[in-house]
Amino acid sequence: MLAMATATAEDYGISPPLRLHMVYAFLAMEPPDVVISLARDFGCGSLDDRVQSCIWRQCICKADVKLQGPYLKRFLKKLILEIESDGEDVLDELYERYAFYLTSLQDNDVDKGNSRILKSISFLFSDESSGLVSCPKSRNLEVQLQCSLNLLEGDTGCSLWPSSIFMSEFILSFPEIFVNKCCFEVGSGVGLVGICVAHVKASKVILSDGDLSALANMKVQCVCLPWESASKEDLRGFAPDIILGADVIYNPSCLPHLVRVLATLLRPGSSLQNERRFNHSLQEKVTSNGSPASEILGHPSANGPVAFFTSVIRNIKTFDYFLALATKADLVVMDITEKVEIFEFLPYLRSYPRLNVRIFKIYL
Ligand SMILES: C[S@@+](CC[C@H](N)C(=O)[O-])C[C@H]1O[C@@H](n2cnc3c(N)ncnc32)[C@H](O)[C@@H]1O
Repeated sequence: MLAMATATAEDYGISPPLRLHMVYAFLAMEPPDVVISLARDFGCGSLDDRVQSCIWRQCICKADVKLQGPYLKRFLKKLILEIESDGEDVLDELYERYAFYLTSLQDNDVDKGNSRILKSISFLFSDESSGLVSCPKSRNLEVQLQCSLNLLEGDTGCSLWPSSIFMSEFILSFPEIFVNKCCFEVGSGVGLVGICVAHVKASKVILSDGDLSALANMKVQCVCLPWESASKEDLRGFAPDIILGADVIYNPSCLPHLVRVLATLLRPGSSLQNERRFNHSLQEKVTSNGSPASEILGHPSANGPVAFFTSVIRNIKTFDYFLALATKADLVVMDITEKVEIFEFLPYLRSYPRLNVRIFKIYL
């Protein structure tokens, strides 16, 4: 056993950025393996007493036991095992806290319905010296999301999916395309995308989902919109400039309905939409392949609504079916993943398979 040192991480010369990555990963409830590997990064491979003190002060002491209890218990178990197998002494406080969770938190808490957790996602913006000139520090953003503890509960809309993390990085990379725009999201889930478009000053943000548990989980307003029963009149009333969808292309039986919803929302004609022309300031910004951002991100006629969908293509047949339905509905689906430079604002989310996510611009 080891008594805790009183000095801070900085006193030990632990690099603040590396420490912050570990703390943010912990608050985002990354798998314990990921957080521990980030801890090793700043400990030069070791989980010695200075690293343990830092974990204790910066992570464990700052956690909310009510909302993060089951995660804390798993994290401490894994951490203690790793420290012991390294042959290091474990800090007393870590043992004591783990013993406390062992007796106070039962494994079946999840079954009893205590399965909601609070993930805190902090977008890390750099300053001009790092080259991220479009994203000043003043746009810093921390989002708290209530999520389901495990995916096996059935309600996919209560989990945070990689596509919406990627979509949020896209929105924060190109804030100017959303300014003063009416944005409508289908299949909003836990709401990260909606918070990001509100953050970059969309004029209106409408979130929608068809799943009742997703709607009940959401702490902001979300329209109940099952694609199967959405009427043309209802959809036309929303008159969005931009439609967003993250990880909504996965269930073949829903796709005809999703494509109908999308085609209806993309059909221009509303006087509201015609008034809100695409923001020409975009032309000043150049994308990674040298083209003006407006060319890649806007509607070819500069004034029609556009949709952006992000997706992990898990089943190519399902995705091809979506493409076939979209073509039949006269929609153009353009893969713009390699054409735009999307900044990596969440470098500490190591379990997020960023490279597997594609982004599509869709228009009529
Ligand atoms: C895989 S989750 C993605 C959630 C969120 N966009 C994200 O990426 O984190 C799919 C979302 O689409 C919603 N959804 C699925 N089928 C739907 C349907 N037929 N009508 C409306 N929403 C639907 C689900 O409730 C869920 O919120």
